Amino acid sequence: MLEVKDLYKTYKYANVKIHAVNDVSFNIRTGDIVSIFGRSGSGKTTLLNLIGTLDRPDSGEIIINGKNTREVSGSKLAAFRRSNIGFVFQYFNLIPYLTAIENVALPLKFDGVARSERNRRAKEVLEEIGLSKRLDFKLAGLSGGQVQRVAFARAIIAKPRIVLADEPTGQLDSKTAENLAETIVNLNKKSNITFIITTHDPVISSIANKIIYFEDGKIQKKE
Ligand SMILES: Nc1ncnc2c1ncn2[C@@H]1O[C@H](COP(=O)(O)OP(=O)(O)O)[C@@H](O)[C@H]1O
Ligand SMILES: [Mg+2]
Repeated sequence: MLEVKDLYKTYKYANVKIHAVNDVSFNIRTGDIVSIFGRSGSGKTTLLNLIGTLDRPDSGEIIINGKNTREVSGSKLAAFRRSNIGFVFQYFNLIPYLTAIENVALPLKFDGVARSERNRRAKEVLEEIGLSKRLDFKLAGLSGGQVQRVAFARAIIAKPRIVLADEPTGQLDSKTAENLAETIVNLNKKSNITFIITTHDPVISSIANKIIYFEDGKIQKKE
């Protein structure tokens, strides 16, 4: 369902070249929970941005659900993302002055789904993810763990086959992280969504059925 082949991404910063993703290849099957595990600066976010088509590689291929992302042109990219990929990124997407239900329903608006149907589905997903008592809370009134649940609800509302999450437990205490990990497992079992999660949290690696150890832009080993 996801094929990454010979991927390279180099940044140039003050005349220094940083090989953020340096000859990376791997395959992921539908329904996998994959942890991309590595320390800060190892290139995890860069790799996730490439897979999510938020950024373009210097060279290499990314094939999602049989489609080479190189062939998806600018104007079609947003629609391609919405139908294939859900994002849980730290500074991406969530709007603090909107309620949980409004945040989760928003992607459906871009797909032209009517308001009542948007709200019905947002409510359903939030209930599934354990937030039925916080539907009308603004994000500012929610805990870190609850905000991350809103982020996951929002990522899956358009029924993508693949969800990319960038260090989703990074700001959470270990108990809250464990609860979120359990939620990910449940979503994975119920909907067969493929998860690719960057982390340096062993809690996330413990739920992964594939771990890609990442160091200096390279895969050190796969498990
Ligand atoms: N936009 C950018 N411009 C220049 N260098 C960058 C940029 N984004 C990331 N880098 C560098 O690429 C390397 C990998 O960064 P990143 O992918 O954010 O790692 P991680 O998510 O594992 O912490 C780091 O050395 C970082 O400084
Ligand atoms: Mg990062």
